[in-house]
Amino acid sequence: MGKDGTHARSAPDLRVQLGPLSLKNPVLTASGTFGYGQEFSDFLDLARLGAVVVKGISLEPRPGNPPPRIAETPAGMLNAIGLENVGVERFVAEKLPYLRKRNATVVVNILGNSEEEYAALAERLEDEEGIAALEVNISCPNVKEGGIAFGTDPRMAARVTEAVRRKTTRPLITKLSPNVTDIALIARAVEDAGTDIISCINTVSGMAVDVFSRRPKLANILGGLSGPAIKPVALRCVYQVVQAVSCPVIGIGGIQTALDALEFLLVGASAVQVGTASLVRPTSAVEILDGLERFLRHQGLASVREYIGTLDTSCRFPLAEETCAGDE
Ligand SMILES: Cc1cc2nc3c(=O)[nH]c(=O)nc-3n(C[C@H](O)[C@H](O)[C@H](O)COP(=O)(O)O)c2cc1C
Repeated sequence: MGKDGTHARSAPDLRVQLGPLSLKNPVLTASGTFGYGQEFSDFLDLARLGAVVVKGISLEPRPGNPPPRIAETPAGMLNAIGLENVGVERFVAEKLPYLRKRNATVVVNILGNSEEEYAALAERLEDEEGIAALEVNISCPNVKEGGIAFGTDPRMAARVTEAVRRKTTRPLITKLSPNVTDIALIARAVEDAGTDIISCINTVSGMAVDVFSRRPKLANILGGLSGPAIKPVALRCVYQVVQAVSCPVIGIGGIQTALDALEFLLVGASAVQVGTASLVRPTSAVEILDGLERFLRHQGLASVREYIGTLDTSCRFPLAEETCAGDE
């Protein structure tokens, strides 16, 4: 142990292997909170991140919802951006080359209104260089089935995963919605349908109203809650998904600090994504990465892999032992 209480060791190994996807470290950005990467490149070196997960991309450009599209809430925010994006052709022509030039590891988040749209996107991106993986956002309305989100029904979630799986050889991440009764059921369905990795969670469905104007705070009325307010929900979902499947899991939801990220790794996530925190502090993701490294050094761990999934649930309450002993 060094004078400052830390272990004098060489830098801990931060590499993680998520099925077919090798990452230099487990800290990624979350889709929709980091633009196309370029917007943040004045603040941090994109190449340092485990991966940059870009804003959700659709076949055609989308203007998104009318304003107001964002409302602040205690310990979080509600958004109803409506998946605004430049569309796949402009993404490939204008955004991807910049990310390649910056040596960023790129994960492309895709969205569609039908299985065919998801499949067409995967096919369109298949031969583009500089894409490490696809992340399928299944929290989108299935237009053909009355607008129910793909991610809320195990059968539809599986179908969209299969459709993308057929068109891509790249590592495939399926991103789950927390707005379901049993997230483990959806997780098993997408694993059986061929996803390599599961990421969770997307935003939690919510609403905010103004008592003076008597109007909803979002033009869309409903929105998605993100930020620290959802961290316990996200942690619970990640824990349940890790128990339910054998594929690797990426934890997302309310991660602001390295300690938050460590909580997700502890319950078994192999990596994390930093979302709303980047909107508050653009440097959050690299600060979390630095904090993670400091923590591993302090704990004398040579690799982050030694920490992942090591939660001890044998004794849930520190006092239980005493209580039990007292009862004897
Ligand atoms: C403004 C905003 C836009 C988002 N856009 C997308 C998106 O396009 N695709 C997607 O899969 N998730 C999107 N998300 C969800 C985030 O990637 C993330 O899953 C969620 O915000 C929870 O993480 P956080 O609490 O760290 O923000 C968006 C979130 C926010 C706040």
